[in-house]
Amino acid sequence: MLQFDIVTIFPEIFSSFLNQSLIEKAQQKKVIKINVHNLRDWAFDKHKTVDDRPFGGGNGMVMKVEPIYHAVKSIKQKNKKTKVILFTPRGKKFTQRMAQNLTRFDQLILICGRYEGVDERVAKYIADEKISIGDYVLMGGEIPAMVLIEAVTRLIPGALSKKSPFEKRITKQKGFIEYPQYTRPAVFEPKKGVKWSVPKVLLSGDHKKIEEWRRKHSKIIEK
Ligand code: ADE
Repeated sequence: MLQFDIVTIFPEIFSSFLNQSLIEKAQQKKVIKINVHNLRDWAFDKHKTVDDRPFGGGNGMVMKVEPIYHAVKSIKQKNKKTKVILFTPRGKKFTQRMAQNLTRFDQLILICGRYEGVDERVAKYIADEKISIGDYVLMGGEIPAMVLIEAVTRLIPGALSKKSPFEKRITKQKGFIEYPQYTRPAVFEPKKGVKWSVPKVLLSGDHKKIEEWRRKHSKIIEK
């Protein structure tokens, strides 16, 4: 079982995500476990401060190193394969291959930065890996954490319904595929005289031809 431990100052953001059917099912099947931790639980001053003004001046606030240090220390499981991940737009760009590699861990601690930044000592001393989900700046690491959890969870055997034999073969050979899918109706008429049809081969029942068509139209996400 892969355990995700999310460290955030906005735990509520995750509530509907956690109740989403596939994530919930994967938890019920004990394929994954997701814990959401409120960083303020490790802020020990009267006001439960998690951020402060930047040294050297400048706008905005910076997330403090101590609460994050104590949170990670207390969440980290002993004798388990754990990775501590910090989400930052300056991190390594997240890919399908990284998602695949993360399935091998027992525990992933996901630190969600907020505000204008996180004290750099978190990146330097606490995080094993810094991850960005793309070259744009979000308001925090909460959505990146959900992106990572979804991408990793669906790769864990048993988390989803079974792959088709074709998908299995092509995944082994080449990497990761997405081919176009259709369902009924075979012909949809959005208005009179306009027909949106499904490629005929998919209705043919000829599995060899269908596989060929899918292969031809597959997008290899990563080689
Ligand atoms: N925090 C803010 N922007 C981000 C991004 N693009 N990826 C990961 N974490 C972030």
